Amino acid sequence: MIRQSLKFRKTVIIVSVLSLLIFIFLILKQDKIKNYELERHQKIDNDFQDVGYRDFNHMPKIYEVNMENRINMDSESNVNKDKEELKEAKNRIEQLEKKIAILEGRIPEKYPDVKYLGYKERKRILVTGGAGFVGSHLVDILMIQGHEVIVVDNFFTGRKRNVEHWFGHRHFEMIHHDIVNPLYVEADEIYHLASPASPPHYMQNPVKTIKTNTLGTINMLGLARRVGAKILIASTSEVYGDPMVHPQPESYWGHVNPIGPRACYDEGKRVAETLAYSYAKQENVSVRVARIFNTYGPRMHVSDGRVVSNFVMQALQNLTITVYGNGKQTRSFCYVSDLVDGLIALMASSYTLPVNLGNPVEHTIEEFAVIIKNLVPGCRSTVATGAAVEDDPQRRRPDITLANTHLKWKPKVSLEEGLQRTIEYFREELSRTTFYNNQTYIDVKVKNKH
Ligand SMILES: NC(=O)c1ccc[n+]([C@@H]2O[C@H](COP(=O)([O-])OP(=O)(O)OC[C@H]3O[C@@H](n4cnc5c(N)ncnc54)[C@H](O)[C@@H]3O)[C@@H](O)[C@H]2O)c1
Repeated sequence: MIRQSLKFRKTVIIVSVLSLLIFIFLILKQDKIKNYELERHQKIDNDFQDVGYRDFNHMPKIYEVNMENRINMDSESNVNKDKEELKEAKNRIEQLEKKIAILEGRIPEKYPDVKYLGYKERKRILVTGGAGFVGSHLVDILMIQGHEVIVVDNFFTGRKRNVEHWFGHRHFEMIHHDIVNPLYVEADEIYHLASPASPPHYMQNPVKTIKTNTLGTINMLGLARRVGAKILIASTSEVYGDPMVHPQPESYWGHVNPIGPRACYDEGKRVAETLAYSYAKQENVSVRVARIFNTYGPRMHVSDGRVVSNFVMQALQNLTITVYGNGKQTRSFCYVSDLVDGLIALMASSYTLPVNLGNPVEHTIEEFAVIIKNLVPGCRSTVATGAAVEDDPQRRRPDITLANTHLKWKPKVSLEEGLQRTIEYFREELSRTTFYNNQTYIDVKVKNKH
């Protein structure tokens, strides 16, 4: 018992001593750590002092100033940039405003009166070559009748000015397109007039003239077939060539030189007729063919080199009126409004074979020169003859019995009345050209091609 108690005491003492030793060790260790931390901080402080970063308060101030400058500089350059952009935008807006003003100026304030047609009566009518001389007059009548009109033109000889009085009208649409390329539009009727018509124009690029009258006509006939439209082909009295039959009835097959200077047009139109009847037979396309004789009136091209335009322009400027050949060759001239009435009557009729449209009143070219000279007040021009033109037809006068029978059509406008209106138009054109060029308009280099 006593031995056990002694052993217990001894254990307690050992444990106590050991605990005391551990406690002392821990205190000493703690002090050592503190000292180490102090030394470390002191070292860091010294290091900062060495490299001059001791003044912590100073550093943010520099930074703040730099930042402020940068912000000021940035905002200043941003403001300048914004100002420049604003200036540029203003310039662009001004330019656009000018363009809009020009475009608005082109839109007529008031359109010619147009009849209202109901949905069933109103047709969508495509006019190829609608910006040309005949086409633009046709467009006017179709619009006034209340139809929707689409003009397709490549502006080779046509002008926007001829149809600009319809720009912006909800029934009018204009497509800048060359019909040698296919066209996809919807239409109920097609008046196919696109082709240069005056000799200087169609001789300028004979290959293009043939393409327009062959490929272009195929494209239009193809379109008519696809959309089920009726199509009228504008053919010409030139299919009769230099005729051996006088006056020319539709049954006359013609006398054309296939390789002469006029062949690109004459043969082109003959192929166009052949194509029309091939599509009618093979594809059931409803075709009409108008053989148009010489037509004149306002909107003729001033330099188209044909009798009326040449003689009128020469008479208005007191220049010599030049007659090519002996002047005994004959022509019959139809006023444009009469022709347009004939085209519309033909389209509406059920007659499908070719029909002559022209004025049968015939005059020699020499007589025309004198008639025109006398219609221009105070004209001091003289009439002179020049060398004959190759393949120039000697006689031309339409037999219009068929048009009379099937369309109840014949021309109404007298030569004198038509010429007076035409002279007025050319007088205006001349003053406009003189005004813009500030010089007299002289375009007599192009020979008369009758
Ligand atoms: N005016 C006449 O005395 C007369 C006589 C006989 C036949 N014609 C025929 O009547 C039609 C119209 O004649 P016009 O006197 O008004 O001639 P124009 O030259 O004033 O008009 C023809 C129009 O067709 C356009 N055109 C030409 N080639 C084209 C193409 N490849 N694609 C698209 N558009 C094209 C022209 O830019 C022009 O607007 C022509 O087919 C012509 O052969 C006219």
